[in-house]
Amino acid sequence: MLSSYRNKIEYGDFVLYNLRGLEEFKCCQHFDCGDDDLNEFFQCDAEPHKTELLATIYCLKLKKATDGKDSPPLAFISYSNDVIPTAKTKNFEAFQDYLTNSIPAQKHYPFLPAVKIGRLGVHKEYQGHHIGTYLLNLTKQLFTTNNRTGCRFITVDAYKDHKVTKFYKKNDFQFLNDSDRGKKTRIMYFDLKRYQPPSE
Ligand SMILES: CC(C)(COP(=O)(O)OP(=O)(O)OC[C@H]1O[C@@H](n2cnc3c(N)ncnc32)[C@H](O)[C@@H]1OP(=O)(O)O)[C@@H](O)C(=O)NCCC(=O)NCCS
Repeated sequence: MLSSYRNKIEYGDFVLYNLRGLEEFKCCQHFDCGDDDLNEFFQCDAEPHKTELLATIYCLKLKKATDGKDSPPLAFISYSNDVIPTAKTKNFEAFQDYLTNSIPAQKHYPFLPAVKIGRLGVHKEYQGHHIGTYLLNLTKQLFTTNNRTGCRFITVDAYKDHKVTKFYKKNDFQFLNDSDRGKKTRIMYFDLKRYQPPSE
């Protein structure tokens, strides 16, 4: 069914659903982004994470489906609250300098508020069609518009895979520090103060 949508996608075609309740989690069941851990999260763990208030999970679909059928999920993204510590620590100097120069008030905060992209997966048939980029832009917009709380950064534990870090770098994310160089994931961040909404 998915292949019938490929090559027909335009940005205005997307709608983002906030997943609530069991019925809507059924749409996660056959989702395949090509990564077993992420698939398992969306297929099995998303609902309990939502119920336990640990994460919110969103699904990207097409607004209008062909053949009168609902669009299958094209991508999922989950968010949780996060913080970035401001205390001076080893391997953190570059970010410290950035904070001192760009956020004078940071000395009043032992931690700066952030939102973490917990999981992000685009259906494997649709990868490379800028859906991931669309979701990151939407995230930047969501957390700078009418926020109920202050939120300065987006963070993500990015897979240390060249194509994944390239994807985040291309979307203006940077590595937070060097201490996770040897790990399977690297923390990357985007400063929401730098977000420029697209002009009308
Ligand atoms: C990583 C992922 C979310 C990117 O989403 P996407 O919709 O495929 O990415 P986009 O089309 O927006 O790509 C934007 C840029 O990222 C890079 N990129 C994305 N996929 C790539 C690939 N397979 N190989 C090389 N570079 C890639 C490219 O630089 C691309 O820019 P370009 O189109 O100008 O070349 C998606 O591929 C995915 O779900 N992968 C499997 C799960 C995963 O690894 N999730 C991330 C966990 S941290």
